[in-house]
Amino acid sequence: VSRKDFPFDFLFGVATSAYQVEGASNEGGRGDSIWDVFTHREGKIKDGSNGDIAVDQYHLYKEDVQLMSKLGFGAYRFSVSWSRIFPDGLGTKVNEKGIAYYNNLINALLDKGMQPYVTLYHWDLPNHLHESVGGWLSDKIVKYFAIYAETCFENFGDRVKHWFTLNEPNQFAVKGYDVGVLATGRSENPSTEPYLVGHHQLLAHATAVSIYKKKFQAQQGGEIGIAVDCEWAVAFSDKMEDKLAAARRLDFHFGWYLDPIYFGDYPKTMHEKLGDRLPKFSNEDRELLRNSIDFLGINQYTTRLIANATTSSADNGHVYQDQQIERIAKYPGGEAIGEKAASEWVYIVPWGMRSVLNYVAKKYHNPKIYITETGMDDEEDPKALLNEMLNDKRRVGYYKGYLAAVAQAIKDGVDVRGFFAWSFVDNFEWDQGYTKRFGIVYVDYKHGLRRHPKSSALWFSRFLKGGAGERTN
Ligand code: GCO
Repeated sequence: VSRKDFPFDFLFGVATSAYQVEGASNEGGRGDSIWDVFTHREGKIKDGSNGDIAVDQYHLYKEDVQLMSKLGFGAYRFSVSWSRIFPDGLGTKVNEKGIAYYNNLINALLDKGMQPYVTLYHWDLPNHLHESVGGWLSDKIVKYFAIYAETCFENFGDRVKHWFTLNEPNQFAVKGYDVGVLATGRSENPSTEPYLVGHHQLLAHATAVSIYKKKFQAQQGGEIGIAVDCEWAVAFSDKMEDKLAAARRLDFHFGWYLDPIYFGDYPKTMHEKLGDRLPKFSNEDRELLRNSIDFLGINQYTTRLIANATTSSADNGHVYQDQQIERIAKYPGGEAIGEKAASEWVYIVPWGMRSVLNYVAKKYHNPKIYITETGMDDEEDPKALLNEMLNDKRRVGYYKGYLAAVAQAIKDGVDVRGFFAWSFVDNFEWDQGYTKRFGIVYVDYKHGLRRHPKSSALWFSRFLKGGAGERTN
């Protein structure tokens, strides 16, 4: 694959999120988020770690921007930490130091000719909002999110032209309120809470979008979207029940969010399966939601083989069981759908990227798409030598494969505008702590958080600077 396989103005960038990279959790007037509380609870994070320091981008942002720009990337997707802007989330008093930090980061990017792509919510709810008003379980959250979003548009929108309201609302709802492995760690009411949280996320999203469109868009000239996690699903066999299970899986995974956003209501399969457990939209909600975005962010890592679940356990009301699947089925011969990365859930399946892009384009009226995240991880190995860790040949292969798949999808007619690698640097990988490394740049946690570009970063750099015509393999 080469740069020439992509349109001239196609955007290449790198991505991170606030809690995973910023650190400085007690500095600059920042309040606690649900992630600060969750990580400090015993036994929640694999290596007992947290994001208190993370990779300290709060202090090292200039060096980081310098490096991404030197590598040749044109954009940086990062998220704003809500509790840096409003420490208790209530929206009464803006923390000016928080505003100043993001102003500095945005200006540093623009100085290097890079575009900021800004996510408003990447899972780090101000903890006070969770404890005092119920967080995402309460419909009050819509109002607080609107105040926060508006404050960001007001302060940064003169320079930020691409906004994402939420990141991966599905993962947040399911892993935070069904299985409880991510903050807030709840699993008390797995058959209802994830759907309630998802519902409030959709309403918060739609409200923020409408504020942007009414009050800011004409004057600031930017665009707004959302970043949704789009795993691809393939039927385990030709049997009708498996085909239906795979289709249902897509509905429950991202149709859950994209159907309301494009059509104003949840997928039919969700209504059928969930009945009254699925919250209802009013006519006004539907109006607000329908065709609410200017572009769609797709996080795409992996593909799963889906079989219909036949056991009665399919009825005890977990989201995965509502999908009636056996998760991660293997082919009859026992082989998996793709090679595995370090994380259990990352199967490397480049063609799944092309398939999901075509599916989304066809179903949702060919939207303008950015690949907002894609990548694979290596296991942290404390004994490995730096040189070994930097020599990430598999990751180079991953990106070649996934980029080629995106190029194919563009040829198929899908309107893809950009590609963001997850991640710029190794960082705090949620429940996995620092045991997984997703960066194209290595972070040496033992030696002052020094950054070292891996082979994949250098490969990207050649790919990007080569420009039209360069063959990279
Ligand atoms: C997300 C993702 C990232 C992860 C990445 C690797 O919410 O966008 O979960 O934050 O770090 O997907 O697991």
